[in-house]
Amino acid sequence: MGSPGYHPDASLYHRVDLLQLMINSQNSKDVDTRKALSDPEMVAQGIIFIFGGYEPTAEALSFLFYELATHPDIQQKLQEEIDAALPSKAPPTYESLEQMEYLDMVLNESLRLFPLTARLERVCKKDVEVHGVLIPKGTVVMVPLFTIHRDPEHWPEPEEFRPERCT
Ligand code: HEM
Repeated sequence: MGSPGYHPDASLYHRVDLLQLMINSQNSKDVDTRKALSDPEMVAQGIIFIFGGYEPTAEALSFLFYELATHPDIQQKLQEEIDAALPSKAPPTYESLEQMEYLDMVLNESLRLFPLTARLERVCKKDVEVHGVLIPKGTVVMVPLFTIHRDPEHWPEPEEFRPERCT
């Protein structure tokens, strides 16, 4: 017995997971040592991936299930697509997930309404002019995701949950 993807005869070195890839990069002769991660950096990456991965997934699913619970017609349509893609409750695969276009639309629409991150920020690396506005190097540029996602100019009746508009 072993965890999925792990063959008992294979050395751990060949295991393909994020932590192993980071360890391999330290030991590999192909990787410039300046680019390999130090032990504390690997721990930091691991923590980011556990918390950064867990929390937004849980939040995104909570909002999605709320929308499905309050829109039973959409839930029904999505259920039908999933049942057709996974007959006899077959386990999902990457390929089957790719086929589910309505699932993609439902998720996109839910993330439009509830983007989890209200805004993104970037630091301008050099002076630049955008539509006549000078943005000097060093300026923090903010992208107001939540506001853009609910702008009626782009999304008529923005408060409505309508997966059809997210094709
Ligand atoms: C629906 C699920 C998720 C949403 C909505 C989401 C959203 C975001 C957003 C908005 C950012 C900031 C991006 C930026 O400023 O450019 C971000 C960054 C990040 N997310 Fe997620 N995330 C999700 C799932 C995950 C998962 C599952 C993982 C890891 C397993 C993860 C790991 C990260 C990491 C490592 C960063 C930082 C990337 C960087 O510094 O360049 N996220 N995520």
